[in-house]
Amino acid sequence: MISDWVSFGYLVSAALFIFGLKKLGHPRTAPKGNQYGMMGMAVAVITTIADMQLGENGIVSWTLIIAGLVTGSLIGYIMAARVQMTGMPEMVALFNGFGGAASALVALSESWKYIDEGHALPTGLDLPVIVVAAGLSALVGWMTLTGSILAMYKLKGGVEVFGKWIRTPTWGPTWLNPVKIILFFSVLVMIYLSINDMTNTDYLWGIIGISCLLGIILVLPIGGADMPVVVSLLNSLSGIAAAFTGFIIGNSVLIIAGSLVGASGLILTFIMCKAMNRTLTDVLFKSFGGSEKASLTRTKAGTDAEEVAMMADGAQKIIIVPGYGMAVSQCQHQVKEFADLMAEKFDTEIKYAIHPVAGRMPGHMNVLLAEANVPYEQLIEMDEINPEFSECDMAIVIGANDTCNPAARSGEGPLAGMPIIDADQARTVVIIKRSLSVGYAGVDNDLFYEDKTMMLFGDGKAMMTELNSAIKEL
Ligand code: TAP
Repeated sequence: MISDWVSFGYLVSAALFIFGLKKLGHPRTAPKGNQYGMMGMAVAVITTIADMQLGENGIVSWTLIIAGLVTGSLIGYIMAARVQMTGMPEMVALFNGFGGAASALVALSESWKYIDEGHALPTGLDLPVIVVAAGLSALVGWMTLTGSILAMYKLKGGVEVFGKWIRTPTWGPTWLNPVKIILFFSVLVMIYLSINDMTNTDYLWGIIGISCLLGIILVLPIGGADMPVVVSLLNSLSGIAAAFTGFIIGNSVLIIAGSLVGASGLILTFIMCKAMNRTLTDVLFKSFGGSEKASLTRTKAGTDAEEVAMMADGAQKIIIVPGYGMAVSQCQHQVKEFADLMAEKFDTEIKYAIHPVAGRMPGHMNVLLAEANVPYEQLIEMDEINPEFSECDMAIVIGANDTCNPAARSGEGPLAGMPIIDADQARTVVIIKRSLSVGYAGVDNDLFYEDKTMMLFGDGKAMMTELNSAIKEL
């Protein structure tokens, strides 16, 4: 009877996860999707606790469970409440790592319970299967933890934190590749050996140690514009680790939730690869994502908001190209105000060009612009908007750099081959940023120096506010 209710609870929770994921597919329905996901997780936790309390094993310790729930919720709440929008990618990377480590720890303790203490195995499983699943969970989980922590520091700007070599990914890539493969296969060999010698914990410690090292050397050579790929891959790995653990503890909802995270993370990884025009093998083994920062030798005089307003006067079509700087300066509301002013005063058609890796996390620009109530139909994906630049009067680039850097069209450098927003095809280009400095990938941008480009130097919010005042004065 209890097991029927538990199965029902898990079914409801799995259904909520799937509906939630479906709703996350569109910005308009995404908040609902998030709520479904939260409800699914609440149902899964309550069902698991009820199962433990009422089932055969009984609750081991309420104190431990409550202490864990309170501490975890408190840390999660404080982190989420304090994080700036620009710090979200680092937080996501860290949570991926925690997810992987939590799964690996549960797998470790459960497999010990069966091996050391002779507990009854979940129905349909025998000990060697548990040992293999625990080994795979350790491989993926510990690798995810160390890889994610390193990715977090790289996103934070590892140069300041650990020195140049962390963010300069050309560090030893050629000889690291065979090392990665040797380490990976040595973990598989250890898992195989541990099946025949299950009480020998040396293998387990070996698997954990090598997996931690593997996570570090896998992420170490990746950097620059390739970081979105590695973050979504780590996200996928954290789900796979959870699915392995669900298998060990015989928990169907953990298997389903883990598989959903694993599969959706992998789909996102391939979407990111496509956006960067890379293959996953290239990102993992060729490490051309980073470089030393370009040294800037050229100069360019800046313009002011009044001059930009005069150029914009009477424009029939303007395309706004948002980037990471818009997130830093949080000027999305001023951007929306500019669009409204132009539409009201001059009947200007306004569109937004959205690059898939603009900002620091997937959908970063969509989230910011949705927050400012920009209509979704004005947010146009890169492939669709690019042909429109040649017929637009003005492109206004707000805090974007790599995603509209023509250097990507050449076959060399960290941005080589990455599709970009064709802002340089517009009749006039206005670029709002604080200086001529490089973007995330460290590559100088020729677009800044073109004759038709006007550089409006300053913080995004301050410049957009000045521009709006100048437009009102016209
Ligand atoms: P970036 O190339 O990162 O350039 C952002 C520009 O914003 C900088 O050049 C900076 O110039 C300017 N900026 C910073 N603060 C500003 C402020 N307060 N006001 C105005 N401008 C400001 O931006 P992007 O074009 O969006 O490209 C994103 C990059 O991040 C890509 O290389 C991508 O691969 C990488 N990345 C993306 C993700 C995801 S999933 N989206 C994850 C990790 C990495 P100044 O300092 O001169 O102002």
